[in-house]
Amino acid sequence: MMIDTHCHLGKEDYENREEVIKNMGNNIMIVSTASPNDIDDIISLCNKYPNIYGTVGIHPEFASTYTKEDLVKIENSLKHPKIVGVGEIGLDYYYTKDNKDKQINLFIKQIDLANKYNKTIVIHSREAIEDTYNILKEYKNQNIKCDLHCYSGSLEMAKRFIPLNTCFGIGGVLTFKNEKKLKEIVKELDLKHFVLETDSPYLTPEPFRGHKNEPNNIKYVAEKIAELKCINLEKTLDITTQNALSLFDINI
Ligand code: NI
Repeated sequence: MMIDTHCHLGKEDYENREEVIKNMGNNIMIVSTASPNDIDDIISLCNKYPNIYGTVGIHPEFASTYTKEDLVKIENSLKHPKIVGVGEIGLDYYYTKDNKDKQINLFIKQIDLANKYNKTIVIHSREAIEDTYNILKEYKNQNIKCDLHCYSGSLEMAKRFIPLNTCFGIGGVLTFKNEKKLKEIVKELDLKHFVLETDSPYLTPEPFRGHKNEPNNIKYVAEKIAELKCINLEKTLDITTQNALSLFDINI
């Protein structure tokens, strides 16, 4: 069993969406949304496919344009039993630094929602890891579970996040030939801190880099982790699956 803890399956992402879903067999996909406009679609996928779960959130790129109604829509969808998290939410200073205050404000509003409904947060943090850490630190005593999706920080930073109930989403970047930092992190930290993700349709792992990604490619990420940690693939899948089930409170 494999779990892709972070993928996007928007209709605009895939012409052959049914086929992409079918390729995963009985393996689980946790589909992340970036905009309230995607919520109806993700809920229909959750209702149709037993192996699809979802997370709902407003991505920081909408920090200057979202409405109060959007937040209400997020909150209402958190009552659905297969919506297992709030995300992807966070800070993106690569996209723009001009509205840091608004990004931080939106991030905090959505962490508070996750806290209220006891959901895991799925964090997008790009060139903003220090601010992300400082915000999460304020919630330390609330025991909110965090999935730091597509982790790109340092090993030292990762060690600071661990006491904040954080798991690191590891995806296709790990397989890239020139990627050294993430390989070091995977070697160094216990496997209990990692979950697998593809971020499909982006970040396709080797050997298919350059093609459109899909959840079924999660196996190449798992193979790379197994290789780096010198354990077999089965054990890698067992442990990362347990990590994901526990991170998102999924009972199967
Ligand atoms: Ni994503």
